[in-house]
Amino acid sequence: MKKFLAAFMTAVLVLSIGGCTNDKNNSEIVSNYDISQSVENHETNDSFPVHSPEKSDGKTLVVYYSATGTTETIANFIVEITDADIFEIEPEIEYTSKDLDWRDDTSRVSREHDNHENRAVKLKAVTPDNFEGHDTIFIGYPIWWGIAAWPVDSFIKGNDFTGKTVIPFCTAASSDIGESGNLLSDMAGTGEWLDGKRFYSTSLEEEVSSWIDMVT
Ligand SMILES: Cc1cc2nc3c(=O)[nH]c(=O)nc-3n(C[C@H](O)[C@H](O)[C@H](O)COP(=O)(O)O)c2cc1C
Repeated sequence: MKKFLAAFMTAVLVLSIGGCTNDKNNSEIVSNYDISQSVENHETNDSFPVHSPEKSDGKTLVVYYSATGTTETIANFIVEITDADIFEIEPEIEYTSKDLDWRDDTSRVSREHDNHENRAVKLKAVTPDNFEGHDTIFIGYPIWWGIAAWPVDSFIKGNDFTGKTVIPFCTAASSDIGESGNLLSDMAGTGEWLDGKRFYSTSLEEEVSSWIDMVT
């Protein structure tokens, strides 16, 4: 089954290259996809200011999980554009590049993927400061095997979204956002969840800004 999934994911990525030859960004992202490279980028990506919830009067909160920095970049764009507060979902035990190697059947993500019980990732903090004071929540995550990376699940299950508008966004090498937002909405059971959007590692602030204009 694992081999089949690995073959399926490889086929999806290859088809993306072949089927989207007029989409330069997409082809580049897929052909350049390298987890260890991404981890390095994440560790050195400190050019964006991180807002603490206390700093802003805004009622918008950007919550995100990012293993290798791509989703974090988009989250910071949203913060800049909306003057939102920000909250990073951080697993107690961070994922190393080895942990993230989805091609390795024995890696942490592979073992978690194969057994749902292993996906209950403990977080450093589950609830952001003044969560109740925010009425619009952007929630961002990378796509893992077609769904939201599961460290996000502990945040979703641990908070009440009643009265809040929740807007998912994700990053992926080639997959679309698919059902990931709907699955999180079902998991939450509360809140008004809007359709989300997928971004790439090359997505620019202008694209994020246009999307925010449309959804808010
Ligand atoms: C375990 C794992 C599974 C992944 N599965 C997919 C996938 O199903 N489809 C896809 O397009 N990209 C997949 N990717 C690529 C990530 O979604 C993509 O690199 C994302 O932008 C990483 O975001 P981050 O840097 O914020 O962690 C996967 C990456 C990892 C580590």
